[in-house]
Amino acid sequence: MPQLPAALPGQLLQWYDKNRRILPWREEPSPYRTWISEVMLQQTRVEAGIAYFERFTAALPDIPSLASVEEQQLLKLWEGLGYYSRARNLKKAAIQLMQEHNGQLPADFSALCRLPGLGEYSAGAIASIAFDIRVPAVDGNVLRVAARLMNDDRNIEDTAVKKEFRQIVWEVLPQHRVGDFNQSLMELGALICLPNGRPLCESCPVRDLCQAYAAGTQLTLPTRQKKPRRRKEEKTVLLLCRPGEVQITQRPADGLLASLWEFPTLPGLHTPAEIAELLSVPTEAVTPLGPATHIFTHIEWQMQGYRVELPPEAPLWGGCISLPTAELFASYPIPSAYAAYLKTLR
Ligand code: ADE
Repeated sequence: MPQLPAALPGQLLQWYDKNRRILPWREEPSPYRTWISEVMLQQTRVEAGIAYFERFTAALPDIPSLASVEEQQLLKLWEGLGYYSRARNLKKAAIQLMQEHNGQLPADFSALCRLPGLGEYSAGAIASIAFDIRVPAVDGNVLRVAARLMNDDRNIEDTAVKKEFRQIVWEVLPQHRVGDFNQSLMELGALICLPNGRPLCESCPVRDLCQAYAAGTQLTLPTRQKKPRRRKEEKTVLLLCRPGEVQITQRPADGLLASLWEFPTLPGLHTPAEIAELLSVPTEAVTPLGPATHIFTHIEWQMQGYRVELPPEAPLWGGCISLPTAELFASYPIPSAYAAYLKTLR
């Protein structure tokens, strides 16, 4: 099995102490805050996550408040972050912690792995950062850094390769400050050992240990398999407006964006004339809002939006409620897929 250099932890921790970013969950750490931050950062960039983290932990400062939060408030706090099952799993896990662990996160890697929403990476991050337990936390950043340090061109998306890399990182974990060491690997990936052929090798604190740098292969690593193509879905989005109000409808309780609210949509792309005819309004009442796209993991939405002015007595679109826009912004979670159209109501 390949190895990471034994000098890595010492050199990297020294760099981390001087160069780490000041982040709210690092400055004021607690097991709860570490947990929330790690779940948020699973699919969200650090810079984007900071404001969400501050707002979330201000509203729900501890496990009891998270365990009892109303679903709609929870989703509103998560609005815009995407992957909403993360928020639902946080609440589920909080309830489980109240029932089985006295309302505390367990200082135990295997027990953390069993909580909804935590995989080996997140459980490893929480165990090492919050409880100083000697386990690795290998995310995509760390896989890239390790592939380059070892000049290893195997596919880092392959499960067996990931598993081996985890073992390799485990072998070099220091006796002390294991949470900082795990974070220093992530930090190197986020600040220096950048993806997409853009590593800043001239500024790298462990360049002298890097086999890819020595071989000149750092721009071609890591190797990944090609992403499967996304299914494209065309839809027409309708902002059905009565004076001061707009109509929205709640999505089904399961599947994509479950239970979030959205504007009514029609499958396919339609012309203003078609919309006017469908709604029995004059064409002047239909204003095109332009096209927009939103990319999910497996689907891409290609949208066309229209604002439609309806008379006060017009019936509601099937399944919709009509409400003042201020109320919409205050209380109803709308997925960011609709951001381009939502902002026309501000
Ligand atoms: N990404 C996920 N967790 C992180 C952490 N603790 N520090 C920096 N980046 C991260």
